[in-house]
Amino acid sequence: MLFVSLILGLVSSALAVTHSGDGTFTTFGLGACGFTNDNSQLVVGVSTAFYNDFPGATPNPNNNPICGRTITATFQGKSVTVEVVDKCTGCAMFDLNFSPAAFDKLANESVGRIHNVSWQLNGGGE
Ligand SMILES: *[C@@H]1O[C@H](CO)[C@@H](O)[C@H](O)[C@H]1NC(C)=O
Ligand SMILES: *[C@@H]1O[C@H](CO)[C@@H](O)[C@H](O)[C@H]1NC(C)=O
Repeated sequence: MLFVSLILGLVSSALAVTHSGDGTFTTFGLGACGFTNDNSQLVVGVSTAFYNDFPGATPNPNNNPICGRTITATFQGKSVTVEVVDKCTGCAMFDLNFSPAAFDKLANESVGRIHNVSWQLNGGGE
């Protein structure tokens, strides 16, 4: 059993690809996933490119399998885990557009934009 969980642990960490991009924040409401969120929730939008290219994406953005997945993002030793609920048209490929509550876990909002946020999609995949 221990051996099996060790192997599973190695497999899932091998699947976890780490990305790096800028972090910004915005107000949240009805997003591309079709969920309605507010600014106090720990939610995020990924770039339109990342969203639209996600395996299993169809022309209906509400059905994108990335919706509801979580991302753990780290910036200068601080981390936050957020749920993917939207896409961000102004984002470069690996940028993340956080809710204010999520951004607050990483940096002061007065900074506006943070660089070199490293992140991974939890549960494997891109
Ligand atoms: C955020 O930055 C502003 C302006 O520099 C400062 O007044 C405020 O105290 C900071 N907030 C936190 C939580 O550090
Ligand atoms: C970006 O962050 C990673 C760790 O999160 C660090 O190893 C790397 O040196 C940073 N790169 C830059 C350009 O600051």
